[in-house]
Amino acid sequence: MKILVTGATGNIGRMVVDELLALGADDVRALTVDPGRAALPAGVEVARGFLGRPSTLPGAYAGVDVLYLAPHLPTVVEACRMAADAGIRRIVDLAGPKGGYWQGMEDAVEACGVPFTHLEPGEFMANATLWARQIRAGDVVRDTCGDATNAPIAQEDVAAVAARVLLSDAHEGRSYELTGPASLSRREKVAEIARALGRELRYVELPRDEAIEELAKDMGDHAAWYVDGQETLLAYPQRAVPTVAELTGRPATTFLEWAHAHVHLFRDP
Ligand SMILES: NC(=O)c1ccc[n+]([C@@H]2O[C@H](COP(=O)([O-])OP(=O)(O)OC[C@H]3O[C@@H](n4cnc5c(N)ncnc54)[C@H](OP(=O)(O)O)[C@@H]3O)[C@@H](O)[C@H]2O)c1
Repeated sequence: MKILVTGATGNIGRMVVDELLALGADDVRALTVDPGRAALPAGVEVARGFLGRPSTLPGAYAGVDVLYLAPHLPTVVEACRMAADAGIRRIVDLAGPKGGYWQGMEDAVEACGVPFTHLEPGEFMANATLWARQIRAGDVVRDTCGDATNAPIAQEDVAAVAARVLLSDAHEGRSYELTGPASLSRREKVAEIARALGRELRYVELPRDEAIEELAKDMGDHAAWYVDGQETLLAYPQRAVPTVAELTGRPATTFLEWAHAHVHLFRDP
């Protein structure tokens, strides 16, 4: 069974390649813009191309049975139609919560008629790096919606699920909501980062406008949109679901474990 991993040097795509190899997959093709720079593991067949440039896809799709479809909305309809034309048997797409920003991924996959599995992660733990600049500079994190609660997931867990789903037809037609193992407020996430760093951090609640100004230093024009999302979470907290543990057979990564593994992101280089 030949598996094509698109976006193969992406945050998640690269880990999907490693997980597939660890699970014994022996026919993995990786799609990347620059094979020389990609430094993919030995044993992986490397194809040059990008989902965003559909002219590169026919060669990459040739002979492929199962496709890992990385999140790239602008060309997803064409990429899926071409996958169907190429005779690909199954698509595993990385989207997001149903009805959210990434819904177009699922719509395009379903429209092309190829059997599918949708992966629907919520927020990634890695988004906490949006506090890294403040934590490197001092002991105060200025933010808003401190009680907004969700169950963020480690990107490593998304990749672990993706690899298992790619390798088995048993998941056909399913949508998997993916979260971390526990719901945490923003204050609690800052406290977990402090524990991992072995430092005291003080969370300071800002009014909406000041928070947007602070967050814009790191996320630019997305800051207001991001704060809107946090306000929604205040009203509708996200609960944790057990999908990662059920699909991988091991517990999902906790936020504290993630923070310990990524302390370097919050320390001066
Ligand atoms: N629930 C969520 O929050 C959610 C859900 C889905 C997706 N996402 C987003 O998806 C990202 C994680 O997915 P990922 O790891 O697959 O993606 P990624 O880290 O954004 O990487 C995408 C890969 O696509 C390739 N690429 C080449 N040219 C590109 C271009 N012009 N624009 C974009 N990509 C290009 C690159 O790989 P090559 O160089 O190898 O070609 C790149 O590494 C997150 O950063 C997040 O923003 C979030």
